[in-house]
Amino acid sequence: MPNRKALVGVVMGSTSDWSVMSQAAGILKEFGVSYEARALSAHRTPAALEQWIRELEKDGVRCFIAAAGGAAHLAGVVAAQTSLPVLGVPMPSRYLQGLDSLLSIVQMPKGIPVATFAIGEAGAANAALFAVAMLALSDEPLARRLEAYRAKQTESVLSAKFPD
Ligand code: RP5
Repeated sequence: MPNRKALVGVVMGSTSDWSVMSQAAGILKEFGVSYEARALSAHRTPAALEQWIRELEKDGVRCFIAAAGGAAHLAGVVAAQTSLPVLGVPMPSRYLQGLDSLLSIVQMPKGIPVATFAIGEAGAANAALFAVAMLALSDEPLARRLEAYRAKQTESVLSAKFPD
């Protein structure tokens, strides 16, 4: 979804991450938050990654969601190049089930923070909800949509019926 008025930049290390990261895109879409999603890699396309960050910053992006798997340095590399908030999402990985991704993203050395979310779909969705919550601090209609979303979620739990 190319959108140079993107408030959120969503970047993933590989197109193979999209099946998980589409959860984040779905939440942003649901809340009407503009975003631009790209597959760009810290190690396979470092120059293009840097250029993309610069362009989005220039056009007013407010935060980045960065997802990667394995030796997942993408979120840290994004955070190294911007002082905007960076939300990291660890991708499930083939051999270590995403534990490698999680530790790579969460264990940032002091000074360059990455807010790290759960491995996989829950993390992708929660990173987007967190981005919405940050943007809602200065956007009253968005804050109301977030409250309505939470109320609906509460209601769906409380109204669940089970067979006797
Ligand atoms: C990481 O390596 C990507 O973020 C992805 O999660 C993982 C595997 O990438 P592919 O081999 O599927 O391109 O860089």
